Amino acid sequence: MQTIEAHGARIPLLGLGTWELRGRQCARLVEQALRLGYRHIDTAQIYENERDVGEGIRASGIKRSEVFVTTKVWMAHFAPNDLQRSVKESLVKLRLTDVDLLLLHWPNPQIPLSETLGALCRVKQEGYTRHIGVSNFTVALIEAAVQFSTEPIVTNQIELHPYLDQSKVIAACKRHGISITAYCPIARGRAGSDEVLARIGRGHGKTASQVSLRYLVQQGFVVIPRTSRVERLSENMAIFDFELTAKEMDEIRGLAHASGRLLDVAWAPRWD
Ligand SMILES: NC(=O)c1ccc[n+]([C@@H]2O[C@H](COP(=O)([O-])OP(=O)(O)OC[C@H]3O[C@@H](n4cnc5c(N)ncnc54)[C@H](OP(=O)(O)O)[C@@H]3O)[C@@H](O)[C@H]2O)c1
Repeated sequence: MQTIEAHGARIPLLGLGTWELRGRQCARLVEQALRLGYRHIDTAQIYENERDVGEGIRASGIKRSEVFVTTKVWMAHFAPNDLQRSVKESLVKLRLTDVDLLLLHWPNPQIPLSETLGALCRVKQEGYTRHIGVSNFTVALIEAAVQFSTEPIVTNQIELHPYLDQSKVIAACKRHGISITAYCPIARGRAGSDEVLARIGRGHGKTASQVSLRYLVQQGFVVIPRTSRVERLSENMAIFDFELTAKEMDEIRGLAHASGRLLDVAWAPRWD
């Protein structure tokens, strides 16, 4: 599995997203994904599936050291004591002694970022996670986070797919050596039926979804597509054996539009 490096973290370019997967289905998909060669699993406290993810990892028989596990602290747990307690709970559910990457899931304007980041750095220093990062952070928040954090921030996990232009926040992350993890990388399934992506894919013997994922990994972004179907795990993995031309990349870039954002959450911060 290809990886990218950010501040000493080696992150597999492809991971399995697990939002909305629960119970035995979740455990089975994680197990199957790892058996097929996935080496990166993305979960979160708010997904309520950390127990199932942990079960899937154990059932796969893949050594713990070979799997990159990310979880995310929910914004309701950003007060320093809550953060530490919630991370310990996550590890109990996952049945792991540590995770590879621990993210702040969404910005929480109610609690000073300096306090939350201080707590995040402490849990890293105490050995509960190997690396730390953020998610859904804007340009301004990235600048603030870099200033407040005593530990390197290795990723910003953001919504990213062909319909959304995130060039400003990507540039800000790049300036600080922060990698980008693309969530909703097949636009929650929409890219799978896109005619432009399908046409480009035909020229490479690939599907529209594979083109969407390739477009992102070819720019050095980590992708974490989610599927509930075992047969799609292999499809979403077969994105490292072809290359899009500069002209194709430009055409895909042209699909971005002002209302391309999919996660229309009332409390989501505006991107600057
Ligand atoms: N940090 C955050 O705030 C945040 C927010 C959202 C998501 N995430 C993370 O990012 C992951 C991915 O995002 P997402 O789950 O929202 O969206 P996504 O991965 O872009 O899309 C998932 C949807 O695409 C379909 N799909 C998967 N593979 C396909 C294929 N090869 N062809 C056609 N359709 C396909 C799936 O349906 P089937 O199940 O039927 O295959 C599912 O409906 C999440 O699971 C989560 O881990 C993080």
